[in-house]
Amino acid sequence: MGPLAALWALLVPALLGGVVASEVIPHVNECSLCFHCNVDAKPPPLLASDLVPANFQPRNVTHKQKLPICHTCRGCTVHLTLHGSSGQKKLFNTWFRDEVGASPSWLFVAPTDKTPNRKAIVKVACIPVGKHARHKFAQCHADLALKYAKIYLAIEKLAENCGLTDIIPKIWVDWVDAVIPEVGYHIRWLGLWMEMVEGISLENLVRLGNPMMHPDDLLDILHNRVNHTQTVRAALFDLLTSQNDRHAQNIFINGDGSIRLIDNERAFFENRHLAADSILLPTTKKYTINVMENAWIHKFANWGDKVPMCWANVALLFDYRCYVKDGRMGSALPPDVAQCVAKIAGSSPQAVMDEYGMPYPHMAEALYNRSRALHEHGFEYALTEGYPRNPNPWRYKFTPPCCKVKHTDTYRCAHDWSPDTAIPFGDPITGGPWKHDRKDPGTYEGGTVF
Ligand SMILES: Nc1ncnc2c1ncn2[C@@H]1O[C@H](COP(=O)(O)OP(=O)(O)O)[C@@H](O)[C@H]1O
Ligand SMILES: *[C@@H]1O[C@H](CO)[C@@H](O)[C@H](O)[C@H]1NC(C)=O
Ligand SMILES: *[C@@H]1O[C@H](CO)[C@@H](O)[C@H](O)[C@H]1NC(C)=O
Ligand SMILES: *[C@@H]1O[C@H](CO)[C@@H](O)[C@H](O)[C@H]1NC(C)=O
Repeated sequence: MGPLAALWALLVPALLGGVVASEVIPHVNECSLCFHCNVDAKPPPLLASDLVPANFQPRNVTHKQKLPICHTCRGCTVHLTLHGSSGQKKLFNTWFRDEVGASPSWLFVAPTDKTPNRKAIVKVACIPVGKHARHKFAQCHADLALKYAKIYLAIEKLAENCGLTDIIPKIWVDWVDAVIPEVGYHIRWLGLWMEMVEGISLENLVRLGNPMMHPDDLLDILHNRVNHTQTVRAALFDLLTSQNDRHAQNIFINGDGSIRLIDNERAFFENRHLAADSILLPTTKKYTINVMENAWIHKFANWGDKVPMCWANVALLFDYRCYVKDGRMGSALPPDVAQCVAKIAGSSPQAVMDEYGMPYPHMAEALYNRSRALHEHGFEYALTEGYPRNPNPWRYKFTPPCCKVKHTDTYRCAHDWSPDTAIPFGDPITGGPWKHDRKDPGTYEGGTVF
């Protein structure tokens, strides 16, 4: 061998080796864990037939566990980051931190080209890893994940048909093929994707500023800067979709005053029990708790014979009655909502089921019934007399709206305001009849007087 050939004999394998090394970056499917996954693949299109429980959970788990751990791999379709790891944001001249959900389920942020701000929140069910090493992970209920995905898809379609897309984040279902940052766990099933809304929750705005917002500034924002045209639309959205868990943590306020409602899956009478429970809807329990002492509404055993107090909570400024003529919406629904409600009212529960794909027929019936009541009798009738309907212990009287709140020693209504504190008979926890030894402090059958 001449000297040149000898050099080649040394170099060629080295060069080839280099090439081979880059080619052997393993595919993430060939790793049990992978800490850095290159995003170089596209998810397959989502088919209607993909919406089955098997696609909302890990598969081939036995095989997956036996694979090697990879430092770097390829084949991911998206790069996820953990929600809540993004530090503080500035809004209304103070700083806020995103609330991290109480539930043990994972929440990610991912880039997307489907929304104006190009950011999505991705919720994935059935991840068998705890959010914190010492935490248990959430139980896997793939069937429930599918049920809630279908509810969200129905809500998205309804919002598009009724012109209510300004009220809720855009939402869709799509494949996730990604690794959990730092943990390396490979997610390769369906996730719920939603537009990441700007701003912070009403709860956060009121309580968690750093430094805390001055009450006068807060009141100025809530009276004058929030878009209360949207407050009316939000109440309509909550009633139309029979929201049963609307609290101050899932109403988002943005710096431009716009409102968005998140966490909308408790809808359409899904649990066949609660027909509406929202701080945006007078006569429901969550609204009434904002007006009267919680211990009174919940009929605590140690209540005694006190006189219940009424508190002018700032959330009362999200009462639609403050922003409609004579405090009643009646049949004056915004035009695009009116046309779509009319269309649904003129169809049938089966047609609603076909169009919106609810997971159960009673949920299609809930939208149909509610639309009919709104269309034929207007908002307040639909709220109090329509179907689905709350059990009587959860049908409270209208309290007068408090449309101007002031802060003196605490928040108080700035005008005369004396709600009737009578509450209905029955158990406020279960919505069923009163079965305790002590006397029921309720004084009338709920739903017979408003
Ligand atoms: N679409 C969204 N846009 C922006 N933030 C969101 C969105 N969805 C959820 N969040 C934020 O994530 C937090 C946790 O959400 P989620 O897991 O739904 O709540 P929980 O764990 O209380 O059920 C929320 O309090 C909110 O701050
Ligand atoms: C599980 O993984 C193995 C190896 O990749 C593959 O041959 C098999 O088809 C997979 N099974 C299922 C049910 O996906
Ligand atoms: C308030 O919201 C309504 C409904 O989304 C919108 O048409 C209007 O432009 C908004 N007003 C302001 C000042 O942004
Ligand atoms: C729909 O309305 C009918 C009465 O018109 C009622 O019997 C039925 O229970 C309602 N269903 C739901 C889910 O609201």
